[in-house]
Amino acid sequence: RRAANVQISVIGLGYLGAVHAASMAKLGHHVVGVDVDTDRVEALAAGKAPFFEPGLDDLLSQVMATGRLTVSTEMSAVEGSRVHFVCVGTPQRSDGQAADLTYVDAAVEELVRHLGAGDVVVGKSTVPVGTAQRLSDLVATSRPDAALAWNPEFLREGFAVQDTLHPDRLVYGLPDGEAGERAAVVLDEVYATLLAEDVPRIVTDYPTAELVKVAANSFLATKISFINAMAELCEVAGGDVARLADAIGYDARIGRRFLNAGLGFGGGCLPKDIRAFRARADELGAGDAVAFLGEVDAINTRRRRRMVELAVEVLGGMVESAEVTVLGAAFKPDSDDVRDSPALDVAARLAELGAVVTVHDPQAIDNARAKQPQLHYERDLEAALAGADAVLLLTEWKQYRDLDPERVGTLVAQRTILDGRNALSRTMWTDAGWQYRALGRR
Ligand code: UGA
Repeated sequence: RRAANVQISVIGLGYLGAVHAASMAKLGHHVVGVDVDTDRVEALAAGKAPFFEPGLDDLLSQVMATGRLTVSTEMSAVEGSRVHFVCVGTPQRSDGQAADLTYVDAAVEELVRHLGAGDVVVGKSTVPVGTAQRLSDLVATSRPDAALAWNPEFLREGFAVQDTLHPDRLVYGLPDGEAGERAAVVLDEVYATLLAEDVPRIVTDYPTAELVKVAANSFLATKISFINAMAELCEVAGGDVARLADAIGYDARIGRRFLNAGLGFGGGCLPKDIRAFRARADELGAGDAVAFLGEVDAINTRRRRRMVELAVEVLGGMVESAEVTVLGAAFKPDSDDVRDSPALDVAARLAELGAVVTVHDPQAIDNARAKQPQLHYERDLEAALAGADAVLLLTEWKQYRDLDPERVGTLVAQRTILDGRNALSRTMWTDAGWQYRALGRR
C-alpha cells in the first residue's frame, strides 16, 4: 500500500486526542484538532504539550513545523476533513458508577452539523457497549450518507506516542453493508503506514469493538488485583509476592507483565472503566457476568488502606505530627496525571490522621496541589526527604528507584522506608541500616 494523505479532524485534545492528532500528522496526514478548552488549544498551537507525556513535545514541534497539524476551538474547523475522530473524555458520573456520556453526545451532536457528504465519523472514546449504534443513528438522521466506525484506542500514558504509532493491534467496529465497507477503506488509508508494518487488524461489529476496549482494561485490572490478592496472602503467610510473581510469570500463559504487586491501579481509565462496565452489564441484565470486577475494585482499594496501616505501624502508632515524605503523586511514573492516584490518596489519608506529609513528584506537583491543596509539596527531592520520620515510595519514578540509601540516610530523621511499589532492592536498603517494609513481602 502507498500511504495516502487524508484530511482528518480530531475532536477532543486530551491525552487521547492530542496524541492521536499529532501522530496522524506524523504519518503524513493533514490534521485539524478541535477542543473547547482555550488553554489547551493555545498550548498546542504553540507546539507545546498541554500535559506531561514523554516524546509529545518533540513530536508536536516536528509536525507543527510541517504545517500538517492545526488546532481550533471552533467545530466548524472540521469542515473539509473526510474523517473525524471523536476523542473526548467519558469520565465516571458524579452521581454513580456509570460513564458520563455528556461530552461524547455533545461532540457528535455538534459535529453532525458540519459533516460533508460521505464523511466518516470514527469513535475512539471508551464508551458503554451500545453507544456506537446510538451515535450511528444520530449521525444518520442528519447525514444519511455519512458512516460511523468504532476504533478503540489502547495507548498507555507515559508511552502514548509509541503506542499510537506502533499499536499492538487495530480494531474496526463497523456497521453492515456499504457504509461499513466505505469506513473500512478510509480507516485503511489513515492507518496505511501501520498496516504496511503488519500491525494486526481486527474487523468486527460495533458491540464487539466497544467490548474489546473494556474487556482489555478489565483483564489488566484483574491481573493487577490478582497479584495484589496474592500479596495479601503473602503478608499473612510470610511469603514474598515479588518472587511469586517472577515464578508464575515464567509460565508464558501467565506472563510477568502487569504482575507488579503494590499500591494497585489508579488513573483515568482502569478504575472508572471497570465500574462503568459493571453498571452497563447490570443494565443489560448480565451483571453477574462481571460481578467479579467489584472484587477486583475492592482488592485494589484495600491496598491503599494497607499502606496507611503500615505507615501507622512503622511510626509506632504516633502519626500525629510525624514527618512523612511521600515520593510520587502521579498515578504512575512518566505521567503528571493524578486522577484517582493511589499515591495521592494515601498521602491525603495520612495527613487526615495528623501526619505532616511532604509530597515530591518530578512532574505532577501542580496537578496534585490543585486536588489536595492541604498537603505540603516540595520540588527539590533532597529538601523533601530532609527530617523525615518515614519515607513512602508510592509512584516508582526512575529517580526514586535510583536513590542511594546511604545518601538519603544522611537527610532523614529515621531510616524507615515503605516501598509501596516493590521498586527498591531490600538488601541494598537494609544493608545501609534502613528499616525496609513493602506490600506483600516479609
Ligand atoms: C490503561 C491501559 O493499560 C491502556 O492499554 C489503555 O489504553 C488505557 O488504560 C486507557 O483506557 O486509555 P493507563 O491508565 O495509562 O493505561 O496506565 P497503565 O499502565 O495501565 O497503569 C494503570 C495503573 O496500574 C497504574 O496506577 C499503575 O501503577 C498500575 N499497575 C500497573 C500496577 O499496579 N501493577 C502493574 O503491574 C501494572
